Amino acid sequence: MTHQTIEQVLKNYPSASRDALIPILQDVQEAEGFLSREAVIRIGQHLKLPTSKIYGVATFYNQFKLTRPGKIQIQVCRGTACHVKGSLNLLDSLQLMLGVGPGETTRDGLFTLDTVACVGGCSIAPVITANGRFFGRLDKKRLEELVEKFRAAGEVVE
Ligand code: FES
Repeated sequence: MTHQTIEQVLKNYPSASRDALIPILQDVQEAEGFLSREAVIRIGQHLKLPTSKIYGVATFYNQFKLTRPGKIQIQVCRGTACHVKGSLNLLDSLQLMLGVGPGETTRDGLFTLDTVACVGGCSIAPVITANGRFFGRLDKKRLEELVEKFRAAGEVVE
């Protein structure tokens, strides 16, 4: 999080109105990918709100992330069509391979694992997305190959 980015966002919300809290959090997260401690403190100063209040709001809404996301964000679709085609097994495999659970990031900062509701690719279920790219008709073996490819390349590759 750069100091400059926070200040740029806050410039758009000149009055210290509590109503601005959620839009500010959304804007900062959009710019930086997460809400750093530095950002939360600065937003608190701007809105004259205690940091604990801001953390309270940020943790209440699960759209907000308080830790830096991994370079590769993998989401396992847990919608009905993917569930029927075994998405829970894919999630289990990923948890074992990466050593993290949903909402967590690997220590090396490479992967963040998450689950998501239907992503609109039911015809190719089960689906995962990696940095927004769809990978469908996965089984455990293909999933392992994919993750190894991503790990080796340090990014999402086909
Ligand atoms: S349920 Fe997974 S893409 Fe629709």
